[in-house]
Amino acid sequence: MEISKTVATKQAIKLTIVLIAFIILSSFSGYTQKGTVISIESAHNAIALQADTGNRLGVIYFGTKLNNSAEYASIPATTKRQGSDYSSIFNSAYTPAGSRNLIEPAIQVTHIDGNTSLDLQYVNHTVKKIDNNVSLTTILLKDPVYPLEVTLYYKVYQKEDVMEQWSVIRHKEKGNVILQKFASANLFFSSEQYWLRQYHGDWAKEMQPEETRLTPGIKVLDSKLGTRENLYQPPSFMVSFNSPATEDEGKVLLGSVEWSGNFRVDLEVDPLNNLRLIAGMNNFASEYSLKPSEEFITPAFLYTYSVNGKGEASRHLHDWARQYKILNGKGSRETLLNNWESTFFDFNETILSALLKDTKKLGVDVFLLDDGWFGNKYPRNSDNAGLGDWQENRKKLPNGLGYLVKEAQKNGVKFGIWVEPEMVNPKSELYEKHRDWVIREPNRPEHLYRNQLVLDLSNPKVQNFLVSIFDTLFIKNPGLAFIKWDCNAVIYNAHSAYQQNQSHLYIDYVRGLYKVMERVRAKYPKVPMMLCSGGGGRVDYGALKYFTEFWVSDNTDPLERIFMQYEYSYFFPAIAHDNHVTDWGKQPIKFRTDVAMMGKLGFDIVVNKLTEDDLKFCQQAVVNYKSVSDEVWHGDLYRLLSPRENDLASLMYVNKDQSKAVMFNYLVNNRYGAGSILPVKLKGLQADKKYSVKEINLYPGTKSALAESAVFSGNYLMTIGFNPNINVRRTSVILEINESGSR
Ligand code: DGJ
Repeated sequence: MEISKTVATKQAIKLTIVLIAFIILSSFSGYTQKGTVISIESAHNAIALQADTGNRLGVIYFGTKLNNSAEYASIPATTKRQGSDYSSIFNSAYTPAGSRNLIEPAIQVTHIDGNTSLDLQYVNHTVKKIDNNVSLTTILLKDPVYPLEVTLYYKVYQKEDVMEQWSVIRHKEKGNVILQKFASANLFFSSEQYWLRQYHGDWAKEMQPEETRLTPGIKVLDSKLGTRENLYQPPSFMVSFNSPATEDEGKVLLGSVEWSGNFRVDLEVDPLNNLRLIAGMNNFASEYSLKPSEEFITPAFLYTYSVNGKGEASRHLHDWARQYKILNGKGSRETLLNNWESTFFDFNETILSALLKDTKKLGVDVFLLDDGWFGNKYPRNSDNAGLGDWQENRKKLPNGLGYLVKEAQKNGVKFGIWVEPEMVNPKSELYEKHRDWVIREPNRPEHLYRNQLVLDLSNPKVQNFLVSIFDTLFIKNPGLAFIKWDCNAVIYNAHSAYQQNQSHLYIDYVRGLYKVMERVRAKYPKVPMMLCSGGGGRVDYGALKYFTEFWVSDNTDPLERIFMQYEYSYFFPAIAHDNHVTDWGKQPIKFRTDVAMMGKLGFDIVVNKLTEDDLKFCQQAVVNYKSVSDEVWHGDLYRLLSPRENDLASLMYVNKDQSKAVMFNYLVNNRYGAGSILPVKLKGLQADKKYSVKEINLYPGTKSALAESAVFSGNYLMTIGFNPNINVRRTSVILEINESGSR
């Protein structure tokens, strides 16, 4: 009896200790969990959400997927990175402003009674299987006091480990609610260190990377330019966890806001060293007045996460982009000759007719007529007139575009054309007739960017006008085979004669732009279109849905391009990179062409001024390109040597069945002795396959310094490597790698 009494006392003490420990742990985590765990999983990753006792939804996990999803529920009790105090909201799945919140919100509103508080509580969720690879989780949150609700969307692409997240805000108050912040996504990570790789730039200097450790406080990436958001700071970035990820190692998230206007990404290291990421449209000067029952739909924030470094993450993104986003991402592309750099505005029908012949001579598929073909009262002979007047200039093109389209056909090539539909020069008939269509301050001097202003795309009449530009072009010239859509100006003096609510302009501009693109695409679904913006000023997945490709930069100096294309390649697959061979840079034509071949190849040179050998080389390069373009466009990209850390840049594209690859190598350092001292280790091949390695794209009259048909195992090429023999006399080398039987 005595003994059993002691045992019972001991057991009671044990139980009490366990209970106390549980209470302490629970209060550390702020979680006496009650809600079911919502786990959203892709092939390798998971995000787990759970409502706390107050029904507020939080992110309890982000990372590698667990084998048993029931175990996500155990995670909150393991962390001291959240308490039951002020910090219990740090992990909010969509942080509301006001009420008990003290940190950066994802949403901020003013109700019709002027009250600024918001609370969001979990109501329910659904999971919809869209197909075998894609599913959509929808979570409804509601304010318990005001009739306002937010639906969070999580679209998962299983195989690619990609997620698109966005939100929809609506209310049933008896008047308009003012939205002050309206993020697409609100993420939460718990790691030791956070490293941000962000980009900045300017005209001809796109995609300059900067990698730094995030420190406590908020780092904001954003754009306030209205249009061409990519110009100074693109909406694409990476966050590495613990230490900066390398190509093959480390935990890394690649993210991008799918929005072609003002965007904003807040990266907040909170007081307990968690990272909060809030991404979406920029709320700068954009308070939005939302009518009862109207839906405010935010654009998607896109991301992928990998524990195997930047290389794998980017390959996943490429697979996703080709399959689900970029127009005709799995199809093929046509090579072209552009006349911008060779003629600028100075051309006429005779000159263009000769260029059509050159297009054929070069062996490319399309001739692309650039800026300068339009305007009569104000001819477009320089960038200060004519923009907006989309009628052929009668002096330059007396027989119209139709004549040139037919001439192109006669020469066995296709014809494409440049437009800049969103913009207007003050010296134009359009401006004279429709000044109310122009974004400008009525009482202040106009401020021009490249001598032009932006049209007010929030106005449906302007949207109709834009669609009519394409209609006229295509109805008159059904043979048009390519469009280059340029956008050179930013929005100064953001004022709309159409908007009652000026603070709607930035958002409604982009919505209007997408409406136009949607309508153009509905009518002309297949025509390849290049997304251009005074170089790469607008490169984002919001717009790329309507485009087959984008113009990387006006800077076509091949050395610069190696660096830029390298960084773009993390976010956008090569099939979408438009690379033209021009006269920029000091490198020989072979180097320039080899660099341009790492994407969609085009030329913008004076063909009839090429030497006989240069012409021969280019013609053969077009043929060679066709033999490896399938790998470049649809294969897996492996970055072997970074130009930022080595004398040479080395990249390879391997087709999906690992039977063929193409490897590009370029000298990027001209100091004495620079070159490929050591072999470069290949990646992505199959170890037990044998591969022949052959140099292609040689300049006429030169011989490769490599053995003609060397054969190696994949194992050897990936363990020992291959030396492309790069040096000051061989500054660029392309290798074609073909399976030549198994061991
Ligand atoms: C800017 C583009 O980036 C160039 O390629 C060219 O099309 C010019 N605009 C034409 O004005």
